[in-house]
Amino acid sequence: MRRRLLSEGAKELSYEIREIVKKANQLKALGLPIHWENIGDPIEKKCQVPEWIKDIVVSLAKENKSYGYCPSQGVLATREFLANETNKLGGVQITPNDILFFNGLGDAIATIYGLLAMTTRIIGPSPAYSTHSSAEASHAHTVPITYSLMPENHWYPDLEELENKVKYNPSISGILILNPDNPTGMVYPLEILKKIVDIAKRYNLFIICDEIYNKITYNGARAYALAEYIGDVPGIALKGISKEYPWPGSRCGWAEYYNRDKDEQFDAFCRAIDNAKMIEVCSTTLPQLTIPKVLGDPRFMEHRKALNEKIGRRSAIINEILGDIPELYFNPTYGAFYNTIIFREGALNDRQFLPIENPEIKAKVEEWCASTTNLDYRFVYYLLGAKGICVVPSTSFCTDLKGFRVTLLEEDEDELRHVFTEIHDAIISYLASAK
Ligand SMILES: Cc1ncc(COP(=O)(O)O)c(C=O)c1O
Repeated sequence: MRRRLLSEGAKELSYEIREIVKKANQLKALGLPIHWENIGDPIEKKCQVPEWIKDIVVSLAKENKSYGYCPSQGVLATREFLANETNKLGGVQITPNDILFFNGLGDAIATIYGLLAMTTRIIGPSPAYSTHSSAEASHAHTVPITYSLMPENHWYPDLEELENKVKYNPSISGILILNPDNPTGMVYPLEILKKIVDIAKRYNLFIICDEIYNKITYNGARAYALAEYIGDVPGIALKGISKEYPWPGSRCGWAEYYNRDKDEQFDAFCRAIDNAKMIEVCSTTLPQLTIPKVLGDPRFMEHRKALNEKIGRRSAIINEILGDIPELYFNPTYGAFYNTIIFREGALNDRQFLPIENPEIKAKVEEWCASTTNLDYRFVYYLLGAKGICVVPSTSFCTDLKGFRVTLLEEDEDELRHVFTEIHDAIISYLASAK
């Protein structure tokens, strides 16, 4: 090529949640059955969307208007419904014009970070859901700036570190919160969320809060929405239907802008995000049309409650099986449907292994292990080769903590017990294979 094609930021784009699938598929081709613990798609894991939701989708699919473009910001009646839902929380108040629809939050995340000035940074959690950290790093053409979530303290954020980084790095203009969190499954207490907002207020920052799992909590937890605690600080809440209906294939999510009137630059930023969508025309119409009918139906919260109870039960089973291995940091989960389990310092080394009978699979695993120095990848590759269980290494979530992420989506509780007992046994035997 005459000129370099790729931007410096392109190398920051990676998504191990799907990358690991390529490796698992190579082993599947060699005859190994795979149990997929990598991806947060409830449908893939056989979660059934209730008939009444499907009926709403079907009846809308029979209406001609569902096939047209919609307004660039999104279907007005849907934005009116959602603005009202947020206003009912009693915190910050918005209008339909403070809402913008996207083709899934993946689209929202890419657009929002992409429009920031290159030298303007958003500090995000570590571990981080990699779509956020990759998109932010890609826009800045360098590695992400992060604050630590602490596995030794319920995965709560290190607020002192957050404040110090904000204080000494004037390029940081925003703080990202994920609540409930992917990949840790943690739901933050209100006091912590208020302290983050307080830092934002004192340093003149805005907040981005990913709330895609807002209604997915269990074990007595409740996820506070940004609208409830943001006060007068500018912020963007990101919401969607991928996880809560669940309908990830709808590619439908939205941003809500809070306190635009409090800061001119923030207001201009929100306008630019709206304009970017206008250039694209609009997001998909039909899923938006379903929202008032589904979220406004009393059956929705019953449906969610039943699903949340099931996730809570799975969380308890996983606690029971993995909760007391001394070499792990294990935190019970309260929201979303993931858990990230971390090996304590010094537990892993580059001589550990699991026995693999099939020589071709063994050779593949050894080849992959030889090409990485990340000790959690090594464990994940052996778990895949020896047990056919596909989890995601934690270092792919923008952290140096070494462990792995699992999902809480297995519908069959016997299978769940079996898989996590296999993971338990694999950990014990892997750690014992070389001290
Ligand atoms: C925290 C978080 N935000 C956003 C997304 C992406 O959602 P969407 O399907 O709306 O693109 C995910 C998907 O796993 C997620 O975990």
